[in-house]
Amino acid sequence: MSGELSPIDKAKFVAARQAAEFVESGMRVGLGTGSTAAWLVRCLGEKVREEGLRIKGVPTSTRTAELARDVGLEVISLDEAKWLDLTIDGADEFDTELSLIKGGGGALLQEKIVATASDQMIVIADAAKEVRMLGGFPLPVEVIPFGWQSTQALVEEILISMDVMGRQATMRMNGDRPFVTDEANHIIDLHLSRIGNPRQLSMVLNQIPGVVENGLFIDICDKVVIGHSDGRVEVR
Ligand code: 5RP
Repeated sequence: MSGELSPIDKAKFVAARQAAEFVESGMRVGLGTGSTAAWLVRCLGEKVREEGLRIKGVPTSTRTAELARDVGLEVISLDEAKWLDLTIDGADEFDTELSLIKGGGGALLQEKIVATASDQMIVIADAAKEVRMLGGFPLPVEVIPFGWQSTQALVEEILISMDVMGRQATMRMNGDRPFVTDEANHIIDLHLSRIGNPRQLSMVLNQIPGVVENGLFIDICDKVVIGHSDGRVEVR
């Protein structure tokens, strides 16, 4: 399945393969979105086909749902599952407290809902995703389309009042149109450089009426499986 991989894909693959070992028959499993999570879905597909693993998967995006079905996983909705044993997902950044930035792939809303409805969340990541302070990766904020420019102006005002570094907010684009999420919303990316108080920033952002959710995952991740390009894996 892994063939000849680039160093970064090898790191993602070994993290995903290791994390797949935490999945047991009978589990309801949240399936993340992104290139690392795609490796996880493929590894689980292989286990279903070759080892008789029986699981029900709840995908966090239409992309992941499609891949999961293609590799032979049983796919159900979160409403059908109601509660999950485990969610495994990628991340754009993680710090020593296992706080995360997610949403680089635009699926943060479903990802956060699914991870929060799980007994456990495991993040799979290549070693380059580890940071001392979150914020180098632009923080995605999902906003409803109605009045998004006013919402963006409010977000910028709040960043200035909080004296957060960077402060630049940009609408994520898909060609010449705003990017549209699976929930038919848009994403504003915040270029902050460093986020000194992620908990406070997350709470403040989510109080703005047009904001649906932001990509800071705090007290959600329980474990991180870190893959290295030489094939080593660390679990924290
Ligand atoms: C998608 C996400 C992804 O998990 C995150 O962007 C990491 O992606 P990748 O594994 O491709 O580096 O949050 O919304």
